[in-house]
Amino acid sequence: MKLTVKIQSIEKINSQALIIGLFEKTKTTRSESKVEGLDQSISDMVSVDGFKAGLGEVTRVLRPMGMSARELILVGLGPQEKFDEDAFTRAARAALAATRAESVSVLLSDWCLENKTEEWSVLQLAIAAGTAFEPLTEENRKLLEKRHVNIIVRQKGIALTQTAEIGQAIASAINRAKVWGNLPANICTPSYLADEAKKLASVKGVTVKIHDEKAARKIGMNAFLAVAQGSREAPRFIELHYSGAGKNESPVCLVGKAITLDAGGLCLKPSAHITEMKFDMAGGAAVLAVFEAIAKEKWPINLVALIPACENLPDGAAYKPSDVIKTLSGKTVEITNTDAEGRLILADALTYASRFEPQAIIDVATLTGAVQVALGSDISGLFVNDPVLCDMVETAADVAHDPVWALPFGGRRFKELIKSNVADCVNTGPRGVGGSCVAATFLSQFVDDETPWAHLDVAATAYKSGKDAHSTGRPVALLMMLLHQMASVAE
Ligand code: BES
Ligand code: MN
Ligand code: ZN
Repeated sequence: MKLTVKIQSIEKINSQALIIGLFEKTKTTRSESKVEGLDQSISDMVSVDGFKAGLGEVTRVLRPMGMSARELILVGLGPQEKFDEDAFTRAARAALAATRAESVSVLLSDWCLENKTEEWSVLQLAIAAGTAFEPLTEENRKLLEKRHVNIIVRQKGIALTQTAEIGQAIASAINRAKVWGNLPANICTPSYLADEAKKLASVKGVTVKIHDEKAARKIGMNAFLAVAQGSREAPRFIELHYSGAGKNESPVCLVGKAITLDAGGLCLKPSAHITEMKFDMAGGAAVLAVFEAIAKEKWPINLVALIPACENLPDGAAYKPSDVIKTLSGKTVEITNTDAEGRLILADALTYASRFEPQAIIDVATLTGAVQVALGSDISGLFVNDPVLCDMVETAADVAHDPVWALPFGGRRFKELIKSNVADCVNTGPRGVGGSCVAATFLSQFVDDETPWAHLDVAATAYKSGKDAHSTGRPVALLMMLLHQMASVAE
């Protein structure tokens, strides 16, 4: 996608399509530059089509009068008094997905939210423009790649152009994560992800290390290997470094769960649930996509990305309920449920992360079904041990329009639930009892209290289930904004 930000009058727009937003009832634009023919085209359309300008409602006028654009796309913004951030992105996506034109101008000056800066709107529009089609089919991905989106603003400035560039980088990272996430488990294997990671070795400042089973054993990643041992698919522990800042600056460490198929292991899942567990590598895909985008965009930050990748299958060699495993940290875990595998591979990855003395660790995982019970399907679960980092993540989530909600973990009451008689802890608490908080409590044992750490449980947000199941690319936008904020602070 090519993106430009301009001040332009409507007559001069020569894109194939022009998008204009209209509020319900008034059905008028806020356009200061009244154009002959525009109002007529709109009122014709409104009467012919019964267009009510409800939120996300779209109608097209072909060959509008007085304009060089071939298509005029009217998108409903809903009632003006209810127009908010959600409405903004919904309308933007609906309009941009309603046309297959290769060049599209958006009259943004009409839709800016009163309580948000024009920058916020440009960022959101750039992200929406790059990700408008969902599910992301190969055909739509190609159209997005070719498309030129021109954003028409009120005030031009270098800041808006830079914001648009960030939005564009975010959108393409989201699409990368979506493509990986949507791949079936026989293609997107641990080795496949490792090969995708290896491709980044040619990017300036990047080094790639792929640890195979033997290497992981030598390091002592026994929890990771226990999960992998029931599968014929070779496990890969992916380690990526990017140095974009000074040598003395400690890195931010990203950790992403990449179970390329989670059948549950010997505690086998019901078959209806297994198909969608190809998405159980979404955390790893998000981390890889964000790492790639930041390294290619040369952001001034040091990054480490760790992606433990394997399958969780039942087999004669699979790890078993009652097994006691010695993790990389030295702590032992009694396996009470082989389907709680994500926390095991993350335990070793979090311990490994501490070796880089990171300024912060952020892990991303489709960790618990319970997070959907707690927060629904629009909000990711946030667990964070540091108030400053909490604030940064919440701010980034708000700017990126990628919502999170902080939940409790740790402390005596949650720790009580994972006590074991034969090991330092068990890997699952009692059924139906604060599942997401218990999982985060388990993870917290592998991070020291002094390191700012955030855990994002994206089990309910990283993909949409059902007949049309597809990856959403979340929380790529949030991570990108967070790291952008961290990179700017350090500068
Ligand atoms: N990958 C699943 C979590 C999940 C469930 C993601 C549903 C998306 C949708 C995870 O490995 C898992 O199986 N968790 C168990 C934990 C339980 C055994 C304590 C769960 O949530 O049921
Ligand atoms: Mn599982
Ligand atoms: Zn899983």
